[in-house]
Amino acid sequence: MGQVDFLQPSRPIMAPKTGPKTGRLVVVSNRVPVPSASGTPAAGGLAVALDAALKARGGLWFGWSGKTNDMPESATSLRTYGAVSYAVADLSRRDLEEFYHGFANRALWPICHYRLDLAEYSAQHTAGFFRVNGSFARRLAKLLDEGDAIWVHDYHLIPLARALRDMGFSNRLGFFLHVPWPPDDVASGLPAYEELLRSFAAYDLIGFQTQLDAQNFVGCIERSGAGRALGDGWCEAFGRRFRVGAFPISIDTGAFAEEARLAEHNTVVKRTRASLDGKSLIIGVDRLDYTKGIFERINSFGAFLERHPDMKKRTVLLQITPKSRSEVPAYVQIQRKVAEQVGNTNGKFGDLDWTPIQYMNRTMSRTALAGLYRMARIGLVTPLRDGMNLVAKEYVAAQAPQDPGVLILSRFAGAAQELDAALIVNPYDKQGVATAIARGLNMPLEERKERWRAMMDVLESNNVEDWSKSFLDILLEDQPQPVNGRAAPPLWTTLDG
Ligand code: G6P
Repeated sequence: MGQVDFLQPSRPIMAPKTGPKTGRLVVVSNRVPVPSASGTPAAGGLAVALDAALKARGGLWFGWSGKTNDMPESATSLRTYGAVSYAVADLSRRDLEEFYHGFANRALWPICHYRLDLAEYSAQHTAGFFRVNGSFARRLAKLLDEGDAIWVHDYHLIPLARALRDMGFSNRLGFFLHVPWPPDDVASGLPAYEELLRSFAAYDLIGFQTQLDAQNFVGCIERSGAGRALGDGWCEAFGRRFRVGAFPISIDTGAFAEEARLAEHNTVVKRTRASLDGKSLIIGVDRLDYTKGIFERINSFGAFLERHPDMKKRTVLLQITPKSRSEVPAYVQIQRKVAEQVGNTNGKFGDLDWTPIQYMNRTMSRTALAGLYRMARIGLVTPLRDGMNLVAKEYVAAQAPQDPGVLILSRFAGAAQELDAALIVNPYDKQGVATAIARGLNMPLEERKERWRAMMDVLESNNVEDWSKSFLDILLEDQPQPVNGRAAPPLWTTLDG
């Protein structure tokens, strides 16, 4: 891969350098899963995914501490556990406001999720976003060695590589976008659109969740006139060549399935089972975000109860929804809207001995969630737009093989590309979702097993470690290497057919 004979560049093109392959892996993300003081590793998909790679090569994980501090560019604090160090830096209140609550979550997040209508434009936030990326790059630079391969994660940090390149770093630099990337006519609504595209081009490998996201991105490069696709996943833009690919993120499938199996004795799980008293459980688990389609989901559940009065008192929707990003006005609005709609629905359908929707704004332990997923007849995962959605994958992994539940999945979640044996729905169509709920509750065991097996096969052949390995193999090598004996996932190729 990578040799593009027909390209006749009019100016020199910087090809990615092959650094020493023995260097460390440096992971950079806004949130850093620092182990507890006693050294207990942080839970969470990304931490699990990268743990093995970090330990194998020796590694560093760098990012925001989650704290503010009014010293300009305060020191980075470093903790080491065995072969892996964690370095975190505070942000000033102004930086946090402009970078995180500002550009990242009021402009990039909505537009990446196709919500131009919710994007806020502020020159100050835009400048702050690039400034904080520069400041992160300067702090990271002090910790970098020549042979380190750097893997940057998510939308907050798109400009990081460019800031490092400007300081003279030629290390291998990869980027993975956890959220969707929209087509050119939506993405071009982003403030500083061209600067962002230029920032992407400073990486050697750019990973997206799905082929659609990767295609959209290459479409942006081409339609903006910044560059072009060269085939085999290679692109050329802004005087650099880089590769673009789809790497669907996953979960630690086996470990999650085991967790769910053992969760039967968890107190929350036992209390929930007792309170259900034989009713069928439908479960939704999401951060309280307007992209998750929670309001539409509540309406769909209402439509289901309206159409199937016989199901009243026989079903409960448990919606677990920790609040999120409450400093951003669009989140305050969605929090109010969802709470009101839950109240309206419970008021309309509920009775003295039955509350149709149990709505909770708090987090749950991983074990409790695993056990609740396993107990639920239906996993209702209906985002309006989602990069992947790991709740869908966890719900499938948690099911009992002899009696699995049914996944109802939005066609707009990245996960729908792989989990096409779910009941795929349009989350905006409340009657369609209501029909899927009824179908899920009545689905014969054989069909449930068949659908579940097909989805579990996907999750067993692409777990989170396969995901990180497939990305890193391509970032670190000139040729993609087989992943666990299977071919590496194809890079984005469709422009050249
Ligand atoms: C999404 C993003 C992550 C982010 C997470 C939680 O999954 O892709 O980058 O960390 O939401 O959001 P928060 O704003 O609390 O970090």
